[in-house]
Amino acid sequence: MNTHEIRFTGDGSKTIFLPELNETYHSSNGAVQESRHIFIQNGLELAEKGEVIRILEVGFGTGLNALLSASWAEKNNQPIHYTGIEANPLRPELCFQLDYPRHIGSTSEKIYDELIRCDWEIDNQLSTHFSIQKREVKIQDFVALEPINLIYFDAFGPRVQAEMWDITILEKMYQSLNVGGALVTYCAQGQFKRDLKAVGFSLESLPGPPGKREMTRATRI
Ligand SMILES: C[S@@+](CC[C@H](N)C(=O)[O-])C[C@H]1O[C@@H](n2cnc3c(N)ncnc32)[C@H](O)[C@@H]1O
Repeated sequence: MNTHEIRFTGDGSKTIFLPELNETYHSSNGAVQESRHIFIQNGLELAEKGEVIRILEVGFGTGLNALLSASWAEKNNQPIHYTGIEANPLRPELCFQLDYPRHIGSTSEKIYDELIRCDWEIDNQLSTHFSIQKREVKIQDFVALEPINLIYFDAFGPRVQAEMWDITILEKMYQSLNVGGALVTYCAQGQFKRDLKAVGFSLESLPGPPGKREMTRATRI
């Protein structure tokens, strides 16, 4: 069984460290800061608004990206349906020790509680504009039933989990998106970007969060 350690990151928010992989769930420069920059500012803020924005997250983990997205949905009166894929769900008690609502605003406390406690494999309407289905499944076995508008690709890095960045997965991501939909990720590795291009994505290399030069936004054209 994996052991999980809780660590502070540069912006004062916490993350989880996995000694077996020598890998953290977020940037050690700042967990909340990284999630906001990559997935909200360069993902959700740029998504085409419509009846509902369908988000797929690869690596639901602590639920931090889902929490930020739920807060955004309420603030912007924009319905979101979120699918969070996770191969190894974390224990709820571990998630609560991270204190994420403290960094995001007191109103997020109730929603984080529900986000972490709600049932897997079914749709849960957690607030007026935010519903979620958490799926305990490997991305390799996942099939999207409806076209996705935005993918948060937040797998462990290629150094520790190369299979997550395989071109067959990127092809699956491309096929899951509707035209104009985008995948955002912290990874800006050369081979990864060449593979994204090879499956048909149009690429933008954007400034990364503090401590990281670049991030990637890939759009299905
Ligand atoms: C970088 S962490 C995700 C961080 C997460 N987005 C958060 O904000 O806490 C990567 C996640 O991918 C999950 N994972 C590993 N292999 C997977 C697979 N084959 N399919 C889906 N998720 C996987 C891990 O268990 C871990 O939770």
